[in-house]
Amino acid sequence: MILSTGQNGHVTEPRRTSRSDRMAGITKYYDDHAASYAATTMAIDTSRQLQRLVDLLPPGARILDAGCGSGRDLTQMARLGFEPVGVDASVGLARIARRNSGCPVHVGDLRSLAFEDASFDGVWAMASLLHIERSELPDVLSSFSHILRPGGVMFASVKRGTDDVRDDTGRWFTLYDEDSWADHLRAAGLRVIEVIGEPASRNAVGGKTGPGWISSLARR
Ligand SMILES: C[S@@+](CC[C@H](N)C(=O)[O-])C[C@H]1O[C@@H](n2cnc3c(N)ncnc32)[C@H](O)[C@@H]1O
Repeated sequence: MILSTGQNGHVTEPRRTSRSDRMAGITKYYDDHAASYAATTMAIDTSRQLQRLVDLLPPGARILDAGCGSGRDLTQMARLGFEPVGVDASVGLARIARRNSGCPVHVGDLRSLAFEDASFDGVWAMASLLHIERSELPDVLSSFSHILRPGGVMFASVKRGTDDVRDDTGRWFTLYDEDSWADHLRAAGLRVIEVIGEPASRNAVGGKTGPGWISSLARR
């Protein structure tokens, strides 16, 4: 994990440092298009999904926005009285998220999170785990489980399907069906609260239609 600053007292040394070419290409895309991507996604309404997570958290809960993009959801969490912390692999988006939200935002890789175990009440991974390669997902989910306090809750959304697809921007996406996604959550030691398949129009980042989405909540 690369850390831009030591803004958060809970940051420790990375567990893993591997980076695939695919990830490098994805990060380059978000860096090259940081301003336009943030502008496009800033107005997407994620309040319904966010409410489902925060309903399960204590007031003032500490929440990691894993792959925070523009900082849209960090801003909402802070407004609701929570203590959000962002992490994103894109230096450009992390900078924008920090500026938009006023929250601490780290530059780092979800595959090598460097937060202390049991240091968050919630993890919010809106449309970010879809960029993780299938073979790397178990370790990433396991690290999310570790940074959650016992009883802590993770929200995650991914695209729905069965394969890996590359869109016209060149970004790779790994798709899951509801059953395989639930299996991954359980394998990471999380208790599944819900796994809901949703049509693309309800929460598609970028406003594009596609194979649809899966939204999930799971508890450590
Ligand atoms: C589709 S965007 C979603 C952004 C934001 N969560 C939203 O809903 O608008 C995916 C985000 O995840 C970040 N991301 C993808 N893979 C990552 C990784 N391995 N580590 C950290 N961030 C990653 C990207 O830089 C990008 O900001």
